[in-house]
Amino acid sequence: MARTSSVFICQQCGFESGKWLGKCTSCGSWGSLVETVVSILKTRKTQTSKMPNSSKPVSLATVISEKTSRVSTNISELDRVLGGGLVPGQVILVAGEPGIGKSTLLLQMADKLDDVLYASGEESTGQIAVRGKRLGVKNRSVKLLEETNVDAIVQVAGQEKPSLLIVDSIQTMTTDDLSGMSGSVGQVKESAYRLTQFAKLTNTPTVIVGQVTKEGTVAGPAILAHTVDTVLWFEGERSENLRILRTLKNRFGPTDEVGIFSMEDKGLIPVDLTDDFFLGSAKKGVSGSVKGLIMEGTRPIAVEIQSLAVPTKLPIPRRIAQGVDAKKLELILAVLTRRCGLNLFNWDVFVNVTGGIVVREPAADLAIALSVASSYFDKPLGNVIAFGEIGLLGEVRKVAMEEKRVKEAKRLGYRQIVNSKEVSFLNQAIKRYLR
Ligand code: TYD
Ligand code: MG
Repeated sequence: MARTSSVFICQQCGFESGKWLGKCTSCGSWGSLVETVVSILKTRKTQTSKMPNSSKPVSLATVISEKTSRVSTNISELDRVLGGGLVPGQVILVAGEPGIGKSTLLLQMADKLDDVLYASGEESTGQIAVRGKRLGVKNRSVKLLEETNVDAIVQVAGQEKPSLLIVDSIQTMTTDDLSGMSGSVGQVKESAYRLTQFAKLTNTPTVIVGQVTKEGTVAGPAILAHTVDTVLWFEGERSENLRILRTLKNRFGPTDEVGIFSMEDKGLIPVDLTDDFFLGSAKKGVSGSVKGLIMEGTRPIAVEIQSLAVPTKLPIPRRIAQGVDAKKLELILAVLTRRCGLNLFNWDVFVNVTGGIVVREPAADLAIALSVASSYFDKPLGNVIAFGEIGLLGEVRKVAMEEKRVKEAKRLGYRQIVNSKEVSFLNQAIKRYLR
């Protein structure tokens, strides 16, 4: 029978203590003691000691030929980040800031599958039902469980045998075997471990929600990443509709994919990039607007960069950027001033990427630079799309996945593509398109 006592183990040196101490008496680290269940440790040890007799090697060829069976989530963008769908026994951590839309996404996912058990320690069944109504959930097989005891959830899931178990969120889960509060490192780790064991034993795909704060300091995704198979990161600006789901880790699929959603009145709508979502309202023939092509994972996305350059009397001109790194903008402005002869030292410059997307890629440099120059000369750029990295010498460099971008630009109907093949220096591009 499992014992229900717990000890505090130092995460730095492994020292064991019967009670919580602020500081480890062995190595001296502060706050490194984490409450851990003793009985679980014992079972794990016994299992390992039995292993040599019971484990047998298998031929690699036979393992590879067994295809992983996947269940589609019926949400295209979610399938994309999962690598095709859910794998039996897969444990997925969906992490993100509070209010970003994790519960919304998972309830929509539950609606599309049969026999899902949605266990919530954050909200009451009534609150979930209100959200369900708003989202238009019609699936009658979705079961809700209001519970914060992880062992009770495992027990109910064992009886219900759902096709998918959702646990929202791990920070609210506790086990009686530990005395720590919900959200403490010990409770979060142990709860995740028990859910993972359940998933593996019963082959039930399990989704665990992890809350993160802006500082990312609360016991959360970082300590769970190695326990789970897949880590999905949900992000976006709360003031904007755009939501991006990124794969940070995936034992069953690619890690360079992203899912793109728009948060609407009726929930998350997968964004179809074929109808250039991020260019929706782009006005033609206005100075300061330049289309760029960035990659999100393996997908090219056409974005609009807008700039406004205004003469200023301030001793230090303003440089304000949204969706572009401020330091990057400073660098581009320096290149424009020194290498291309734009007198930007007495101009305020504002840059914005429309649609709430953040461009981190160097490939956006050229579009940003041309957009500032277009506003400075007050000359529109026409039906042009630009991508390329800009060096300190003012040279335009080739970027990754160039062919993919060219193909997408052509598909979107741009007649003129400005890249390193077209121009070697930024100066040349400005002369050709803006003078
Ligand atoms: P929620 O899924 O509760 O976030 P999380 O679980 O990550 O904390 O989403 C909360 C936000 O989403 C809330 O501000 C309202 C908004 N929302 C919509 O815009 N449309 C909807 O259909 C729903 C259900 C929520
Ligand atoms: Mg939630």
